[in-house]
Amino acid sequence: MRLLIVYSTIDGHTLEICERIAAIARATGHEVELAEVESASAEQLEACDRIVIGASIRYGHHRPAVKAFIDRHQAALEVRPNAFFSVNAVGRKPHKRQADTNPYVRKFLGQLRWKPQQVEVFGGKIEYPRYGFFDRNMIRLIMWITGGPTDPRLVTENARAAEPIAGWALWRLDDNGNRFLVAVFACRDEAEAAVRAFEAHGHKQTYWVEAAGDRGCPPV
Ligand SMILES: Cc1cc2nc3c(=O)[nH]c(=O)nc-3n(C[C@H](O)[C@H](O)[C@H](O)COP(=O)(O)O)c2cc1C
Repeated sequence: MRLLIVYSTIDGHTLEICERIAAIARATGHEVELAEVESASAEQLEACDRIVIGASIRYGHHRPAVKAFIDRHQAALEVRPNAFFSVNAVGRKPHKRQADTNPYVRKFLGQLRWKPQQVEVFGGKIEYPRYGFFDRNMIRLIMWITGGPTDPRLVTENARAAEPIAGWALWRLDDNGNRFLVAVFACRDEAEAAVRAFEAHGHKQTYWVEAAGDRGCPPV
């Protein structure tokens, strides 16, 4: 399966999430291509089997290039499995992470003819020290109004991307005897499928699965 991930980011947080998705997809034997929304091409879209579009919010809006891309390629999006995710600070609140409860996503989807098959919201990252005077104080004001953190030294994590994904860890032993964590899966079946995919691709190293924590499927 060839997955295309198209992203729109300003400070790189959305790209971090995309890279994490890409790492998991690659670990299960899929090909992944990442493309910035301004440079993603019709050819890349035609060549993929699935597409994910991820974009962040700045002062209430996704960048105009995101809607332009979606409108231009609507037909190509609709003929393959597709998903959309938004990254915004409002999404730090769990009850604001659904398509119909996150105000930006609800409004954005209402402006599109495309109906993504899957929609996700990630709580974005706040990095006060990185912002200029205006942005820092505007975001602090918005946070104060919405009950969020206002300490100007604060750097948060991408709320969901930073969650430890406990479940089933896929490990690799290299030729020098070092073990590496390749990826963590919610379900043991998925992790074992990834082992089989690596082995089928002729990888020489040893792969195995271990329980990695207490979320996801119960140990069997
Ligand atoms: C100048 C600025 C404006 C922002 N405006 C909003 C906003 O209106 N609503 C919101 O929920 N989050 C807002 N955020 C938070 C961003 O969505 C969050 O930092 C996100 O992780 C940025 O992702 P990116 O680096 O991929 O662009 C804003 C952040 C900055 C720096």
